Amino acid sequence: MELMDLKKEFVKLYGEGEIRTFHSPGRVNLIGEHIDYNGGYVFPCALDFGTYACVRERKDRKVNLASTNFDLKVQVDIDNIEYVEEDDWANYPKGVMKVMADMGYKLGGMDVLISGDIPNGAGLSSSASLELLIGVIVNNLFNNGTIDQVELVKIGQKAENAFVGVNCGIMDQFAVGMGKKDKAILLNCGTLDYSYANVELGDYTLVIMNTNKRRALNESKYNERRAECDEALEAINKVKKVGALCDLTPEEFEAAAVKIEKENVRHRAMHAVYENHRVKKAFQCLNEGKLEEFGQLLTQSHNSLRDLYEVTGKELDTLVEESLRAEGCIGARMTGAGFGGCAIALVKKDNLEDFKNTVREGYKKKIGYEPSFYGSGIGEGTRELR
Ligand code: GLA
Repeated sequence: MELMDLKKEFVKLYGEGEIRTFHSPGRVNLIGEHIDYNGGYVFPCALDFGTYACVRERKDRKVNLASTNFDLKVQVDIDNIEYVEEDDWANYPKGVMKVMADMGYKLGGMDVLISGDIPNGAGLSSSASLELLIGVIVNNLFNNGTIDQVELVKIGQKAENAFVGVNCGIMDQFAVGMGKKDKAILLNCGTLDYSYANVELGDYTLVIMNTNKRRALNESKYNERRAECDEALEAINKVKKVGALCDLTPEEFEAAAVKIEKENVRHRAMHAVYENHRVKKAFQCLNEGKLEEFGQLLTQSHNSLRDLYEVTGKELDTLVEESLRAEGCIGARMTGAGFGGCAIALVKKDNLEDFKNTVREGYKKKIGYEPSFYGSGIGEGTRELR
């Protein structure tokens, strides 16, 4: 929904008066998948589309949460915030407020109306977007904007881990909170050191493709992968002490890998180590304008997620296969947690329309329904609009 219309809706719901507006993006990860929780490098960027909020302070200690995307409205008493399953989407903002309150940050009553244009369940981080949105709102309304943005990123992750109960890494919240226009973020998830890279794709464009398979019911698989990585690390620590799988170079890994008895566990670790290596190369390639090589790294990443990490599935594999078959595509991979959700492809601008038609047809023939295509730019991180 356009911001002007959202303001009108806000007035209908809460009455006339001052309105402050905020925006928080979604994210897409270029490369570095399933290694944020292994101390590795990731390379995501924030998207143009995301979540808007209109907000007004209240005199009492109540927070009213409404959204144009869902019928459900929830009122929260900020002195007594608890997870309630029926509160559905509102548990994300509640979680952030609870974590902030527990940390001693100031909180107050407010009326909030939210509107998002990130397709739900597409793996483009609509939840991290919402978390950072609320974090920045609470920061600007009640804490004079004094809370560091990286702190808000950590708060978002903590809300998701401890309040909502999803054991995610830090990548999504970081990309959403720290995104910069036309830049990707190279983030060391072990240290939280980061730097920005210009995303200059020349004759190429980044296409985001949704399998339209809902990414539901994969949390248990996500946690299973995390546990397998922990198991691998434990085995490796018997011969070489490291704090995280991605602290290993490929050579060090190969020397220690025999200690990992289970093949699938060994494969998970192998993915983590080599994926980390690929991210560093990809960062370099992008900086040097070596787009073909960059594209090949994307495809290698997908193959590793398919064969070693086993988080792709038929829909994502088909989308990537059909992309690579189409003219003008120099690389493609799944992005995010996997098991559905989205893939990305690097496609020559001149071929874009043909590319979409080819992939749409090929995918539909094999999967039975169509994928969607998004052409989002790379946007700014979460902020107040002024
Ligand atoms: C999800 C999680 C992230 C990250 C990715 C996989 O998006 O929220 O922390 O682990 O999956 O790279």
